[in-house]
Amino acid sequence: MRMYDIIVKKRDGGELTKEEIYFFVDGYTQGDIPDYQASALTMAIYFQGMTQEETATLTQAMVDSGETIDLSAIKGHKVDKHSTGGVGDKVTFIVGPLVASVGVPVAKMSGRGLGHTGGTLDKLESIKGLEIEMTKDQFIHNVNTHKLAVAGQTGNLAPADKKLYALRDVTGTVDSLPLIAGSIMSKKLASGADGIVLDVKTGSGAFMKTLEDSKNLAQEMVNIGNNLGRQTVAVISDMNQPLGFEVGNANEIKEAAEILQGKNVEDLRELSLELASHMTVLAEVFNSYEEAYEALAKNLENGKAFQSLRNLVEAQNGDVSMIDNLDNLPKAKHKIDVKAEKSGYIAAIDAESIGIAAMYLGAGRATKDDEINHGVGITLNKKIGDWVEEGESLVVLNSDDEEPQASITKVLEAYSIADEKVEKPTLIYTVIK
Ligand code: URA
Repeated sequence: MRMYDIIVKKRDGGELTKEEIYFFVDGYTQGDIPDYQASALTMAIYFQGMTQEETATLTQAMVDSGETIDLSAIKGHKVDKHSTGGVGDKVTFIVGPLVASVGVPVAKMSGRGLGHTGGTLDKLESIKGLEIEMTKDQFIHNVNTHKLAVAGQTGNLAPADKKLYALRDVTGTVDSLPLIAGSIMSKKLASGADGIVLDVKTGSGAFMKTLEDSKNLAQEMVNIGNNLGRQTVAVISDMNQPLGFEVGNANEIKEAAEILQGKNVEDLRELSLELASHMTVLAEVFNSYEEAYEALAKNLENGKAFQSLRNLVEAQNGDVSMIDNLDNLPKAKHKIDVKAEKSGYIAAIDAESIGIAAMYLGAGRATKDDEINHGVGITLNKKIGDWVEEGESLVVLNSDDEEPQASITKVLEAYSIADEKVEKPTLIYTVIK
């Protein structure tokens, strides 16, 4: 078999066989196929697309390129959640404890953040002492005991994807539906859950800017999951503005803990309940979405979901006093209001710019080796549809720098203010099963 023939076949719109896809994925991972041929093929896929069967085979080949995690020692039906990424997305810290509170095991492996969105592990480490490195046995013990553990990703999961994603990033081939879907799903499948709930973001702050593209991506991922024997559900949710009011590390832990203590931050609470309901139905703990929603909402009010978060923090040696009293979380030195330059209705908040403004404060990493400052972040005072007076605060910057000019400029760029009334965006567009 020759890589040249595979490239030409796809360039001309042909359907690749299983053998051809494995030949490419294995050869590229092992270094036998050079970058220039791999980029020619990914560009051909970008233009010609892939059939459902080709996409599922590509995904399985990327799973098979490395280790897979065996979660069979964890009792019960394991369901994982994945978000395609958004600013202020602290849903994992709500959904994990919430799902665990009704007895569904959550074995979460997460990564660190690079660029404008912080990573799950970085955010958790706002809690003093909390350890995310643990042995596999400890991880399994914690999930079996408390139904919840969050650890750094170990093992060599989907190395083919790692190499291909880096190549796509510099060759203009990231935005290909089968390649994105295969990339995300290969990592999820390698991490061993029985069921997967996907939160596919749509809007200005998301990978997919239009609802149609987001639906297509969601459908593609659901097909892959189902084709490869994992029950998969995708929720399409809004990312036309940051989720909730807090962006940053300690900021986001604080907001998540408040929801678990019963506070109603509307978009965040709704999306968390939506995702958790689908997860617990997949786990067969409830018979219907409605039944799940009702039971989970109750656990936000009665303290059970919050207790699950406490259990996680305690089991991973974190300082529980920081979540019992959220004022104990790390704090920045200064609070600086960024004020509206005119009166009007908030028409848009570019989530990516808010993320970048938070990164400038030190909440994210511009390069891999940067240190995170857990105490800095942004608190939004205004969201889309709200009225603001000239001179009124749009956001508060929690900053160690007295004059964080780059962040102030970025926040002002992020907010658009209009004269006419603006409707609040829809939060959940549709669910694809
Ligand atoms: N996230 C991934 O993991 N892969 C992609 O291709 C795009 C987003």
